[in-house]
Amino acid sequence: MPSTPRWVEAINKALSNPSNKGKNIYQVATVDARNAPHVRSQVHRAFTHPDGRPDLPLLLTSTDARTPKVLQLLANPAVELAWWMEGTQDQFRLSGFAHIVPASPAEPDTSFRFAPIPADALALRTLEAQAFDWEAKRLELFQQMSPGMRASWCVPGAPGSAIGSYEEQKEWPSQVPQEPQTEEDKKNAEMASKNFALMLIEPVSVDWVELGVKPNRRTIFTRREDGGWTEQLAIP
Ligand SMILES: Cc1cc2nc3c(=O)[nH]c(=O)nc-3n(C[C@H](O)[C@H](O)[C@H](O)COP(=O)(O)O)c2cc1C
Repeated sequence: MPSTPRWVEAINKALSNPSNKGKNIYQVATVDARNAPHVRSQVHRAFTHPDGRPDLPLLLTSTDARTPKVLQLLANPAVELAWWMEGTQDQFRLSGFAHIVPASPAEPDTSFRFAPIPADALALRTLEAQAFDWEAKRLELFQQMSPGMRASWCVPGAPGSAIGSYEEQKEWPSQVPQEPQTEEDKKNAEMASKNFALMLIEPVSVDWVELGVKPNRRTIFTRREDGGWTEQLAIP
């Protein structure tokens, strides 16, 4: 019977500790087509897993489909993320694959085209085999986003592209209501939704360092081919 790996329970336990309130941000590293590294902060939204396979967890985060990371992931789906829970003094480092799910059909002006799922991305492939409704999940998460967050997907170009002055920002929407009423809000909501993409991260190895216990502990979890996880104690 497949079961949830212990590292997911450890993350959830750390997250639910009041001393880690708000520690839902991790730093995600990618490499681009020239093998240059890039790293940025992202918000952890949830864990998910294929039906009946809690042993194949994925982390759910989101992005603007026009951001550079999306092109980097097209060139190389490998990612590593580092998550520091300061309250309990836990560091989790997760490495594996990331998969971007843009609006369906993808907007021609976003950089994204559906990337093939890597052969050894067992969780993503299992979701695909189960005919997982990626678009429904994308819209479900979009629906939960605040008006301010929605406005961030209405910026007129790819995040990171140059602007002449901060004055330009005054023209951009600052709020896109969840239930748009005016024509303007409806147009903005449509644009925000089209630029909003899911980012699913499938870990295949997890390195957990516990600095909150003395002596410190370190455990390395590695996924086996059948989806189970091995645990190796290591020197911190
Ligand atoms: C606290 C914090 C949380 C963030 N969360 C996200 C996020 O969930 N998704 C995202 O795409 N960018 C997020 N960003 C912005 C990214 O760090 C980054 O600036 C942006 O996505 C562009 O990244 P890229 O150029 O590497 O694609 C966040 C930034 C901060 C400071």
